[in-house]
Amino acid sequence: RTLRIGLIPGDGIGKEVIPAGRRLLEALPASLGLKFEFIDLKAGWETFEQQGVALPEETVSILKSDCDGALFGAVSSPTTAVKGYSSPIVALRKKLDLYANVRPVKTVVSAPKPIDMVIVRENTEDLYVKEEKTYDTPDGKVAEAIKRISQRASSRIATIAGEIALRRQKIRAAGAPSIHQGPLVTITHKSNVLSQTDGLFRVTAREALAAPQFKDAVAVEEQIVDSMVYKLFRQPEAYDVIVAPNLYGDILSDGAAALVGSLGLVPSANVGEGFAIGEPCHGSAPDIQGQGIANPIATLRSAALMLEFLNEEAAAAKIYAAVDANLEEGRLLSPDLGGTAKTEEVVQDILRRL
Ligand code: NAI
Ligand code: MG
Repeated sequence: RTLRIGLIPGDGIGKEVIPAGRRLLEALPASLGLKFEFIDLKAGWETFEQQGVALPEETVSILKSDCDGALFGAVSSPTTAVKGYSSPIVALRKKLDLYANVRPVKTVVSAPKPIDMVIVRENTEDLYVKEEKTYDTPDGKVAEAIKRISQRASSRIATIAGEIALRRQKIRAAGAPSIHQGPLVTITHKSNVLSQTDGLFRVTAREALAAPQFKDAVAVEEQIVDSMVYKLFRQPEAYDVIVAPNLYGDILSDGAAALVGSLGLVPSANVGEGFAIGEPCHGSAPDIQGQGIANPIATLRSAALMLEFLNEEAAAAKIYAAVDANLEEGRLLSPDLGGTAKTEEVVQDILRRL
């Protein structure tokens, strides 16, 4: 099988880590039967300065018509609003209907407090429909925002969370070391207060996870979002897959990323029907750009995650194992992890382990 992968490095260290992702895919063992074709695509601040748009139409149309998946590095966004500029990754999620944002957060198994969870965030609705208004009243201004929750979006996000839980179980059954016994999905909401919106999310997610393929295979529990945060920090080892509406998922996934020590380790994927964009969680890191010391692991894991959603689980498992082995050994670590290794040395070590 030949996979066509769009490469969108973006800005800053995106340009240093995305080439590492490409080399990783090219270095996968031939026995997997996978071939890759790469298409270089533009987006980001530099693109905006050159072309007046942060996400050229061409990038979107090539992704839509010519690619099976993509890797997105990071873009630099101005801190104050700049006319005509808007975030390309947010636009891509919309244009390609990438309805799930998937973020695994994991330590090595031998860590003193091992963590191995995935946050599955709904990516299309909730408060992010951005329908806001401000109006005057006799007591001053009032601002309002719409929180929209649909059965369709809640159902498909819970379904993909269930599928991820089953797939993780399959990878464990294939011998990957794990801290979990069986698949567990934790539904997060605040339906005690928001009985209609979060109530609909809760009930719909429960229904979706009661479908025949999950019924006896995946354990399901619920957690109100505020106590979810508390437990996430107290007992992170207890969680396998967490599914949440957009805003809670955004906050939980950044919070969870803080549990493992460096942004340079944490991958993500934006997933739609038959399409996935792997994206490291970090930004363009202008403070370290050009020094060759960015940690490539978030990107390498994002490439693996993309492959998982393109149904190439065996290839993904190989990458995860190679990265874990590099971290377990702890000899070639980048400076964000307390080491002195350059990006290139970390990449070479991981490629060798593949
Ligand atoms: P950042 O993630 O770029 O950097 C935060 C800190 O983590 C910095 O000290 C950086 O050196 C370090 N860091 C990040 N990735 C690393 C890696 N792979 N290896 C080693 N150290 C790493 O976030 P920051 O500084 O808030 O934002 C910088 C720029 O990135 C801004 O323009 C921001 O808008 C953009 N950004 C873009 C994102 C995206 O494209 N998805 C996400 C977050 C920020
Ligand atoms: Mg965020």
